[in-house]
Amino acid sequence: MTQETALLSTTPAMGDERAPARKVFVKTYGCQMNVYDSDRMSDALSRDGYVSTDVLEDADFVLLNTCHIREKAAEKVYSELGRLRDLKKAKAAEGREMVIGVAGCVAQAEGNEILRRAPAVDLVIGPTTYHRLPEALKRARSGERVVQTDYAVEDKFEHLPAPDKAKTRARGVTAFLTVQEGCDKFCTFCVVPYTRGSEVSRPVAQIVSEAEKLVEGGVREITLLGQNVNAWHGVGPDGREWGLGDLLSRLGEIEGLARLRYTTSHPRDMDDSLIEAHRSMAKLMPYLHLPVQSGSDRILKAMNRRHTAAEYLALIARIRAVQPDLALSGDFIVGFPGETDEDFEDTMRLVEAVGYAQAFSFKYSTRPGTPGAELGDQISEDVKAKRLEKLQALLFSQQRAFAESCVGREIDLLLEKEGRMPGQLVGRSPWLQPVNVDAKASQIGDIIKVRIIKAGPNSLFAEMIG
Ligand code: SAH
Ligand code: SF4
Ligand code: F3S
Repeated sequence: MTQETALLSTTPAMGDERAPARKVFVKTYGCQMNVYDSDRMSDALSRDGYVSTDVLEDADFVLLNTCHIREKAAEKVYSELGRLRDLKKAKAAEGREMVIGVAGCVAQAEGNEILRRAPAVDLVIGPTTYHRLPEALKRARSGERVVQTDYAVEDKFEHLPAPDKAKTRARGVTAFLTVQEGCDKFCTFCVVPYTRGSEVSRPVAQIVSEAEKLVEGGVREITLLGQNVNAWHGVGPDGREWGLGDLLSRLGEIEGLARLRYTTSHPRDMDDSLIEAHRSMAKLMPYLHLPVQSGSDRILKAMNRRHTAAEYLALIARIRAVQPDLALSGDFIVGFPGETDEDFEDTMRLVEAVGYAQAFSFKYSTRPGTPGAELGDQISEDVKAKRLEKLQALLFSQQRAFAESCVGREIDLLLEKEGRMPGQLVGRSPWLQPVNVDAKASQIGDIIKVRIIKAGPNSLFAEMIG
């Protein structure tokens, strides 16, 4: 584009009837599924002429894609809405309009309550109805305060536009692809079954076609997403009922797609075909995020996880038997109601027994509407904090030990983007660690052989081989 046309497209000259494109600013909280959804919503809005902006002050529409998983996550949204109210006022004083929207799990969980607590909000939209966002936004622009939190009966994925090639290219060489949404497990601490609705699996053909589009847009690695991704199932083109292992192996046939990952899995849904995929598929990375939450059978039962600590350990042994190089990651909650010191020590013992390469751990947060909130024997903040500190020290030492054990290894590295130092690129190891290496920007998207030479606190350093 010449400079003249670039200028014309943003500042229409006198007599030019074209209005400048409206701008949308999306801020994403929470899990990877929200990252995926935010991109799909931006894609849907771009059909209506909206362009994405990273500059909040420039936005005609600000959309917060929110998370309700812990109290802190939900409260963050309200403090952000306070700041946005001030910005909206300042813009109105200059005669510029700014529509504020709330999407995501807070939207679904709180609905009208958001309009009451944050009167500057114009639009509230729940995760199952994102395909109706453009139309809801039109209504909000005409002055209506829109709350859309019914569970859509039609399939949102069928109506949302697939990622377009140019945008995919701009987003980089790795991509998320939601294959399953919602949850029927009802763990007693968790809001997800209420905010995302019941489990839905996307059909095989839809997933394969979206993956192919991503690859055409330059993507080399796809992470399949779902709140319970390994509960995904569908009818394959062979007429058989497929599980996630079958789907992975079909996606592995796509030429140009080099790597596959999936997250998050539930221990109850790791079936034989998925375990087998870890043996037979070189494209499937040897990494598994398998949350366990607690090592105490008593607490696991109270959480409604529907497995014991021993069953979890036995499952890991089975997966490691087919893929000895597997790195494990997990989620933990400390201070669930009724958790004693002994229960907590069971969690420490389980962590010792597994040896995690990576982990996420949280203080139990009471969520309104979940069965856990009704339980007596809530644990004090002080006890939660002490347990969390002890658990995190152990998990961190395991993460360090795993990183150290990688030093000297030769690995394939997918180069993703420029690093912090000039002349450096960053990629991910098969075990999802960021790896820094000296390489040229033109190599982004290449998979190169490197030797790990050093482990830092949060990333590895490598040198190219040959
Ligand atoms: N579907 C996944 C988890 C999704 S939520 C699974 O079953 O494992 C991500 C993580 O947030 C959970 O694994 C849990 O560790 C944490 N979490 C969920 N609800 C929580 C709560 N009320 N308090 C603290 N942590 C919570
Ligand atoms: Fe929440 Fe449990 Fe469902 Fe995971 S499996 S999303 S923790 S209810
Ligand atoms: Fe948060 Fe909803 Fe994801 S509660 S973790 S954004 S499913």
